Amino acid sequence: MEKFDHIVLGSGIAGLTYALKAATHGTVAVVTKRAKATTNTAWAQGGVACVSSPEDSFDLHTKDTLEAGAGLCHEDIVNLVVREGPDRIKELVALGMSFDLREKPEGGTELDLGREGGHSKRRILHAHDFTGLEIEKTLVAAVEHHPSINVLEDHMAIDLITTGKLGYATEDRVVGVYVLDEKSGEVLTLRSDRIVLATGGCGKVYLYTTNPDIASGDGVAMAWRAGAAVSNMEFIQFHPTCLFHPEAKSFLISEAVRGEGARLVDGQGTAFMPGYHALKDLAPRDIVARAIDAEMKRTGAKCVFLDITHQPREFLRERFPKIYETCAALGIDITTQPIPVVPAAHYQCGGVKTNDRGETTLRGLFAIGEVACTGLHGANRLASNSLLEALVFAHRAFLKATKNHRPTDPIQLPEWRPGRVVDVDELVVIYHNWDEIRRLMWDYVGIVRTDKRLQRAATRLRNLQKEVQEFYWNFKVTTDLLELRNLVTVAALIVDCALSRKESRGLHYTLDYRETGQLFVQDTVMRRV
Ligand code: SIN
Repeated sequence: MEKFDHIVLGSGIAGLTYALKAATHGTVAVVTKRAKATTNTAWAQGGVACVSSPEDSFDLHTKDTLEAGAGLCHEDIVNLVVREGPDRIKELVALGMSFDLREKPEGGTELDLGREGGHSKRRILHAHDFTGLEIEKTLVAAVEHHPSINVLEDHMAIDLITTGKLGYATEDRVVGVYVLDEKSGEVLTLRSDRIVLATGGCGKVYLYTTNPDIASGDGVAMAWRAGAAVSNMEFIQFHPTCLFHPEAKSFLISEAVRGEGARLVDGQGTAFMPGYHALKDLAPRDIVARAIDAEMKRTGAKCVFLDITHQPREFLRERFPKIYETCAALGIDITTQPIPVVPAAHYQCGGVKTNDRGETTLRGLFAIGEVACTGLHGANRLASNSLLEALVFAHRAFLKATKNHRPTDPIQLPEWRPGRVVDVDELVVIYHNWDEIRRLMWDYVGIVRTDKRLQRAATRLRNLQKEVQEFYWNFKVTTDLLELRNLVTVAALIVDCALSRKESRGLHYTLDYRETGQLFVQDTVMRRV
């Protein structure tokens, strides 16, 4: 058994930012499923929304965030994220991150701010169209060889250990975590009274997603099993523009492309967003995704198109090198051809419920980044607010976890007991269930919902949960099996939250209750009974 002052699960922007700060006060273990840079952060194209020009203001950023959130944002949280953002950005820059600059007409340079849907001003700090990758590289370089940080790559957290689970009658709190070493197959017992979930989102619960394979909802599922409250899981954001091509897997066409004037058009080249919203192609994401879904259903087309051909080739190559090159490799010249796109699951706006310090309802357990539901996003996240939220809450959680921390009495933790488990003999069963979950979520719990479809999904998921639980008890744990177990748990939570919201609001749109109801101006909060 190994003991650390802090254990961080996940190595994206939230996890590594917390780890670097906490390492000034004690030992830190960072547990990550693959190589440390293999994170959803590294896939973020757009950038970080942060007030940084004289034409912008905290009030405007707050107003845009509240408007996108459709009545469910916690205004105090929005205010603090928006206002603390610039200081957190300065810290990132001090670590070596550089955001794109542009020449000023009067000489010198200034930040080259991008624009995305729902933002009334240009306020997206970016590094071309691979902002997340640059941030991840900066943080990984700072963590690498840090004397107080031990990064466990290819390790997957299985479950949190709590005093409640161990049978203590005292206040329930987190005391450690079981972790699978994927290479050796051994399960380690790591001990800490401060555990931080920074495990990202759950895009893989859907058939089509812009997320990497690792996004299997591990943090929400673990927190749920440990008894922490989970909130607002019905609000899954579908990004309107994922590249539609048989050889492209989960490749995003950044909203920043629409920020530079791209228009969504149908197969005949007719722009359709003016018929849906006054902000046209820069309307909030839920509206754009639903408009595309409606157009595809109306015309029977497999995709719509994003046309940026009015911009000069040189500009597109410089501003969007990754999109330009990825499309070119697939035979699409974005300077002369519209890009085929479809909506895909992109971001989990709900998650493990936290307060303004990143604390969950389980003592000692923090949640930061996409895994958390802080109150910032409400019913729909404003584009590029998530990286900012991750930085702000990593800092706040660090302050809370270190200020006046009183170590708790050490408890003897039982080692992992594998029982009478055998190797999974039929991998096909795991893959089949995995596919079934993702397809049923896409078909029944997607952009447009109905009670009947949700009920159908709930019934299927209950059976799948039983089956997966059986595998879990009978077979040796592997990453695939653990991810499947988490995926089915999170899928069921999304459905349960969606079923309890009898209205349409933000990202939750149902044909049975098309209006926004006054009775539902509150978070959906789920607690395990
Ligand atoms: C994008 O580049 O469109 C993604 C930005 C975000 O999801 O915040």
